[in-house]
Amino acid sequence: MKDNEPVTTRSERFDEWLKALHARHVAPYRPKEFTHALQALSVRYVERRKELGSRSPLDSAGKRAAFAAFYAPLHFLTIEQVLDQVTGPARPERIADLGCGTGVCGAAWAIRHDAVVAGVDDNQWAVDEARWNLKTLGIDGRVTRGDLLAVASGSLAVDAIVLGWSVNELDAASRDVLLPRLVSFAQERGPVLIVEPLSRAVSPWWRDWVAAFAPIGGRADEWKFPADLPPMLKELSHRAGFRRDVLGARSIWAAGRPAGG
Ligand SMILES: C[S@@+](CC[C@H](N)C(=O)[O-])C[C@H]1O[C@@H](n2cnc3c(N)ncnc32)[C@H](O)[C@@H]1O
Repeated sequence: MKDNEPVTTRSERFDEWLKALHARHVAPYRPKEFTHALQALSVRYVERRKELGSRSPLDSAGKRAAFAAFYAPLHFLTIEQVLDQVTGPARPERIADLGCGTGVCGAAWAIRHDAVVAGVDDNQWAVDEARWNLKTLGIDGRVTRGDLLAVASGSLAVDAIVLGWSVNELDAASRDVLLPRLVSFAQERGPVLIVEPLSRAVSPWWRDWVAAFAPIGGRADEWKFPADLPPMLKELSHRAGFRRDVLGARSIWAAGRPAGG
């Protein structure tokens, strides 16, 4: 972003960010190299998902570039659309993004009304990338390296929580500790948004989580938003041979304590 050219609207900020992502992560690679990295990353997340616990999907520079330039904006756009459907009047001031990766879920929420993001991730590359993304998008926030479970179990100084595509990376014992923490946060403090892929195989625990949030008014949805992708993402997707007609996701939204309640 140029200093003398203030960028104001959400979509202008997003477009400028995409340009910056392209220069940072796509341009340094030959198109074929980038495409191979993107395909390899997709294989890790889909066909070889079971290896995620023992082998980081972000174990090469090319895959990290693909994650940052393709999946990060895709997740940003998906979260934006989910929020359009579920948030209502909720305008939290400080949003915790647990398992923030590149920070885009917190960013997509915070950019709507200038909230502050508190991101946490246990991967140092992701932490650095999240800091760069927040800065480039002009969002105030702090990103720290750590275990999301420890952060969720501490005294969170926030009034909303988002977990995007991160709960499925936890083991069952960690999920069992996390779930009641999130439910009581939603009940006592503020909204909680959990987003996961549509595939049931990725999150076999989903029904239990939906049931745990239901008594406090939590809603569960499956989304297939028309994927009207920006040209850069369309091109990367096309080159990799992905058929991406929709942005798919499932979500749990618990609105939290009503204002003044
Ligand atoms: C698929 S990525 C999603 C990242 C980001 N939320 C997004 O939507 O793009 C999952 C992230 O969760 C992080 N993660 C997994 N287990 C974690 C833990 N116990 N504590 C902190 N971060 C964790 C990983 O490092 C990774 O960055």
